[in-house]
Amino acid sequence: MWAEKYRPRSLSELVDQSAVKGRLSLLLKKKGEVPHLLFAGPPGSGKTTTAMIVARDILGEHYSDYSLSLNASDERGIDMIRERVKTFARFVDRREGVPYRLVILDECDEMTNDAQTALRRIMEEMATYTRFILICNYSSGIIEPLQSRCAIFRFQRLDEASVVRHLAQIAKKEGVKSGSEEPFALIYQAVGGDLRQAINLLQTASVSGEITADSVSTVAGSTVKGRVGEIVSLALKGDFEKARGKMVELTRVYGIPERDFLRFANEELTSNPTVDLGKAVSILAEYDFRLAQGGNPEVQLTAMLAQLALLSKGGD
Ligand SMILES: Nc1ncnc2c1ncn2[C@@H]1O[C@H](COP(=O)(O)OP(=O)(O)O)[C@@H](O)[C@H]1O
Ligand SMILES: [Mg+2]
Repeated sequence: MWAEKYRPRSLSELVDQSAVKGRLSLLLKKKGEVPHLLFAGPPGSGKTTTAMIVARDILGEHYSDYSLSLNASDERGIDMIRERVKTFARFVDRREGVPYRLVILDECDEMTNDAQTALRRIMEEMATYTRFILICNYSSGIIEPLQSRCAIFRFQRLDEASVVRHLAQIAKKEGVKSGSEEPFALIYQAVGGDLRQAINLLQTASVSGEITADSVSTVAGSTVKGRVGEIVSLALKGDFEKARGKMVELTRVYGIPERDFLRFANEELTSNPTVDLGKAVSILAEYDFRLAQGGNPEVQLTAMLAQLALLSKGGD
């Protein structure tokens, strides 16, 4: 996979994120004094990559023994995390030349508040010889006592120019013919600033050794964003039944997280000229809130599509 092959191995290779890079390189000058870190930002903007770069920089050749990567949204929950961190700590002793162990915890904003409180305790118990890098999409999903124990780094969504440039470079290295920048701009339009998805799309659309606007459109139509866009357009045209059917398929069969659904729906709405944007977006905001409160995703998304469909009938 090209997204892995071209994962940056140093801060200087990382596209954009200059504020993050600047502050981190300063911190890394005194490795012993690096605090816990919190990386927040949209998918495919370089958070996990940066955590790996930081870990390699601090731990050097001991990187694989002295770092532990876990996914906080793992359904086995905080007890599993405590167990894994404790076991890790038991087997990885203090060692000359290694300032501390590193635990990288991805998707922390998916943890419940109780689990985050437990995590805070674990961090305190281990504080003398273990540092944490917490990763999340939204720092607002992280409880304040955890935020205040970390240096927070905000990753920006990559902009079109950066994505296009990066894709063009990869295409060139892979010997893919492109003719113009148009296919890369189309990829950006299809996936937004998510560089992982952009690179995946690039790879799929250039299997023939050439990338064109057509090959991108064909592949992009089947991306998650494309499908969500289609569902939202159907609803806006008043075809609630069909929109609902496709939404259920997308969430059940493909396991698309409802947050992604809302994010892509929002992008579709804001780029759809026929829609009453004010009304449509307040509907979206309402369901975003309900989902955050723990509403059943399928019921909530169904209700949202019903409301969007009503817009086409002049209702509010
Ligand atoms: N800022 C970036 N610069 C260069 N490549 C990036 C950047 N962000 C993401 N990528 C590409 O996308 C892939 C996934 O990035 P990752 O760091 O896992 O994103 P996330 O922010 O979701 O953790 C990487 O392997 C790399 O190819
Ligand atoms: Mg990640």
